[in-house]
Amino acid sequence: MTATYTFDVFSSLDGFGTTSGNWGGYWGKQGPELLAHRLAVYSEEQRMVFGAGTYRVFARMLAASTEESEVRDAWVTRMRNLPATVVSRTLDGPLDWPDATVASGDAVEVVARLKKESEVPLRSHGSLSLNRALMAAGLVDFVQVTLFPVITGQTGTEPIFQGAADFDLELLESRTLDGRSQELIYRPTLHV
Ligand SMILES: NC(=O)c1ccc[n+]([C@@H]2O[C@H](COP(=O)([O-])OP(=O)(O)OC[C@H]3O[C@@H](n4cnc5c(N)ncnc54)[C@H](OP(=O)(O)O)[C@@H]3O)[C@@H](O)[C@H]2O)c1
Repeated sequence: MTATYTFDVFSSLDGFGTTSGNWGGYWGKQGPELLAHRLAVYSEEQRMVFGAGTYRVFARMLAASTEESEVRDAWVTRMRNLPATVVSRTLDGPLDWPDATVASGDAVEVVARLKKESEVPLRSHGSLSLNRALMAAGLVDFVQVTLFPVITGQTGTEPIFQGAADFDLELLESRTLDGRSQELIYRPTLHV
C-alpha cells in the first residue's frame, strides 16, 4: 500500500494562486460552508508536505497575525497542528511549527519515500513549485482545486500551473460552497 498524495490549492478563475491586490487569502469570498468543509477535510488523520517557500509565508503571516486574522481560521490551526514534512535544503530546524521536520533533498525523492513509508495520506497546501515538480514526476494522486469567483488579470501573481507539464484530468468530485466557490478534485495523468 502506498499513501495517496493530494495537492490542495486555492485558485482564481484565471489560475493565479496569489494576488498583489487587497483581496485577502480567499479573495474575500469565503463563507461558512467553505470554512466548515475545510475543517472537515483537515480533521482527517494525514501528514502535510510543504515547500520551504510556503512554510516561510505561513510562518511570517502567523507571526504577524491577530486573533481575527484569516491565517488563524480553525482549519488553518488544524493544518498547522498536523504532522508535517517541510522539504528544504536551506531551512534548518527547529521550525516554528508544532510537529514539523525538515527533509533535506529534492521533493521528488522525499515524497517518493514518504509515499512508501507513511501510514496516513499525504496532503500539501500551496507549495506551488514543489507540487509542479511532484506532478511532473507522477507522484500527485489528486489535485484538489478550490476555485474562487474572481478574475485577477491586474493583480494575479504566481500562476499555479505555469511551467508545469501537460496533464489529462479525470474529474472525481465537485461541490459548490456558499453558492459561489467550487471545489474540484481531479486525478491527473501526464499527457503524452
Ligand atoms: N494558492 C494557494 O493555495 C497557496 C497556498 C499557500 C501558499 N501559496 C503561495 O505559494 C507560494 C509558495 O510557493 P513557491 O512555489 O514559491 O514555493 P514552495 O513550493 O512552497 O517551496 C519551494 C522550495 O521547496 C524546496 N524544494 C525541494 N524540492 C523541490 C522541487 N523539486 N521543486 C521545487 N521546490 C523544491 C526548495 O527549498 P530550498 O530552496 O530551501 O531547498 C524550494 O525553494 C507563496 O507565494 C505562497 O503565498 C499559495
